[in-house]
Amino acid sequence: MYSVIILCAGQGKRTGLNYNKMLYSFRGKTVYEMTLETFINDTRCQQIIVVTRPEERKEFQQLLSDERIEFVDGGKERQDSVFAGLQHVTYENVLIHDGARPYLKKQQIDDLLTCLKEHPACLLMVPCKDTIKRVIDGVVEETLNRQELMQAQTPQAFHTKLILDAYTKAIQQHYLATDDAQMVEHFTDEKVYFVLGDYENKKITTKEDLK
Ligand code: CTP
Ligand code: MG
Repeated sequence: MYSVIILCAGQGKRTGLNYNKMLYSFRGKTVYEMTLETFINDTRCQQIIVVTRPEERKEFQQLLSDERIEFVDGGKERQDSVFAGLQHVTYENVLIHDGARPYLKKQQIDDLLTCLKEHPACLLMVPCKDTIKRVIDGVVEETLNRQELMQAQTPQAFHTKLILDAYTKAIQQHYLATDDAQMVEHFTDEKVYFVLGDYENKKITTKEDLK
């Protein structure tokens, strides 16, 4: 049994659409509906916290209804939206998921929940396919060892108490992070464990991703 926080309170600026990419539809379904269906179909998922901008809440509410869904207003940055969602979590385990990742499969949730039985912080990652270089002012500073690099995805799964404590510190100290696991890495002594993800679990970010 777990709660999930689905983040939908961004503006999707990098897609170049003039509306939130969560409301983009293909094959007759919005990104939002595709993302939510995986969790609606999972009976272990007992609470679905959908974080939206207040002015868009109605639009989301009209698309899907399920008694497990509750809506929460998001904030300026993704981490503000996560923190808002965390205030409403009622289960001991929570998954935090980008609304903009509609291709998540049940297998990945299964693997995360298995990991969560032994560890309080787990996330999906895939090995980096490309070589990554650090660049400063247009000049390559170093080439990172690809063997050691992985790309973080969501869901990221946590014991609720741990992630809430870490986020509370981060928000108090205005610490900026680009994912949720980083909060645990930075503010707690717990190790973050990785679960092998799936390259198909892509985030819709730029216009190429809309095809
Ligand atoms: N998100 C959120 N609250 C924010 C910012 C982002 O809930 N203040 C959500 C987005 O809706 C998205 C997820 O976090 O599902 C990942 O963020 P990102 O891909 O950056 O989406 P956007 O912020 O919407 O896009 P962009 O950065 O291009 O504007
Ligand atoms: Mg963003």
